[in-house]
Amino acid sequence: MLDTIHVRRMPFDFSDEIDPVFIKDDPEQSFSFITGSLLLPYLEPYLIRSMKAAQSHVTDPKILDGLKGFIAQEGQHYRMHMKFNASVRRAGFPGLQALEKELSDDYQRFTNTKSLRFNLAYAEGFEAFTMNAIKGMMGPNGLGDDLPEFLQMIEWHFIEELEHRTVAFDVYDHVCGGYFYRLAVGMWAQWHFTSWLRRAKAYMMKTSPAPKLSAKEMAEVRASQPLSRAISARNILPGLLRIYLPGYTPHDVEIAPGLQVIADRYSEMAIKTT
Ligand SMILES: [Fe+2]
Ligand SMILES: [Fe+2]
Repeated sequence: MLDTIHVRRMPFDFSDEIDPVFIKDDPEQSFSFITGSLLLPYLEPYLIRSMKAAQSHVTDPKILDGLKGFIAQEGQHYRMHMKFNASVRRAGFPGLQALEKELSDDYQRFTNTKSLRFNLAYAEGFEAFTMNAIKGMMGPNGLGDDLPEFLQMIEWHFIEELEHRTVAFDVYDHVCGGYFYRLAVGMWAQWHFTSWLRRAKAYMMKTSPAPKLSAKEMAEVRASQPLSRAISARNILPGLLRIYLPGYTPHDVEIAPGLQVIADRYSEMAIKTT
């Protein structure tokens, strides 16, 4: 399931102002999605630069095809997130600019000063973490029916992350290799981008006028919303833990058949280019 990389150009628009608290009464989880989106126009171009630097070292045609598909998909992803992020900026949060500058500088510095091995291990550290979290969040049938446009965009992106789930692992393994190095840099990468996400979310929580609920009220809100339930630690943690094992390979990650149905739906929705 989801074993082919499809590059889809999606028609999502985001020209209207959005309510940043798009999960009702749950600013925290809404901002988790938003900060994830803010990260991507810096992180995904960095992944693309790393893959392009690796390209001339790849001698296996299958891995090379995957690498090209990865670059094409990630190129669509960050451009779409830039559109969405522009609509978030119209809703306020001026302090995000300084945080984003910091991130942009970090990723440019990694490309300019770090080894190819480091950059590929970072890429796999990010891809393994997010792909396994996505698999947990998507469950057997995705994020749900009648999703607002932003969540359809997220779901399309999630599907394509699952489609290219083996690429960063294979390229690292083929060009450089080494479990302990991948593990160490991968864990550092996960600390690097999750600390940025935490700081950006804390800023948004502090700045947002949305009422803050008590822990008890929050638990009730989350229990009643399918999307909040989907992103619970119970769904995500088991998949995350396995990525640290020596025998881990994304080739063994099984994708639910229901997700192929969703992938086909987004293929239908995509702008036809021929
Ligand atoms: Fe992506
Ligand atoms: Fe990816």
